[in-house]
Amino acid sequence: MEYTSIPASRFEEVIRHLRLSFPDEPLNASVGLSLYGKPCSLLEQYDLSTLEEGLSVMAVDTYTNEIAGVLLNGTSKKGDIEEAIKRMETIDNIPYQQIFGLLNNVNKELDLFTKYKVDKIFEFRILAVDPKYRGQGVGKELFLRSEMIAAENGFKLMKVDATSFFTQKICDSFGFETIKTIRYGDYLDENGQKIYNTKSPHDYYKVMIKILHGKRND
Ligand code: ACO
Repeated sequence: MEYTSIPASRFEEVIRHLRLSFPDEPLNASVGLSLYGKPCSLLEQYDLSTLEEGLSVMAVDTYTNEIAGVLLNGTSKKGDIEEAIKRMETIDNIPYQQIFGLLNNVNKELDLFTKYKVDKIFEFRILAVDPKYRGQGVGKELFLRSEMIAAENGFKLMKVDATSFFTQKICDSFGFETIKTIRYGDYLDENGQKIYNTKSPHDYYKVMIKILHGKRND
């Protein structure tokens, strides 16, 4: 397996990879935002704008040249969450509101910029490994490479909205701290039905952070 940054020439391939490997992310699977093999323009716009920042990494099978996994990383700046919340009001898509409404509101409340006195945060946003390469450490290696990119780019704070139990395990192994835990089952609609029907062991969404102590550019 080879781990590299993602050139623009492979962005479309990354999007195709995500159509096959991201739909079983626990929140997506429960509300049906991205469906297996189908385009999801709202998510793909977000993926592409994240890719364009040049902070993302991919794992490529050296025998087939196939993308085995990706971790799309982006920068969050002060005020971005408030803007995203405003933009969400114009988006008429319930699954999108259910996922990004939850993430944005939790992050707004946490206000990590004030808490950690930073102007920018390195976000590990979209982690997806092709099902046939899972359970072999690809996700972990993508995390390791991403942490190096964050350090090289002078970030002081890294954050993951860890919606999957497996991502939480990876974060734990790299010394991330859990600063917020949300139990999916606690969110009910007006009829008392669960909004997020995530499958076990994906019972919690955790916001996990790690402070980097290297050189700063922010
Ligand atoms: N059952 C039990 N444990 C598992 C499983 C499984 N099916 N898959 C992974 N794990 C555990 C591993 O044992 C390991 O834990 P350990 O260090 O304690 O042994 C940990 O999870 C990481 O294993 P990796 O092999 O490095 O992870 P993998 O390459 O399989 O990728 C990933 C994990 C990316 C979550 C993959 O399952 C996937 O693509 N899922 C669908 C999309 C998704 O949920 N993405 C994450 C959303 S959160 C985010 O994007 C920030």
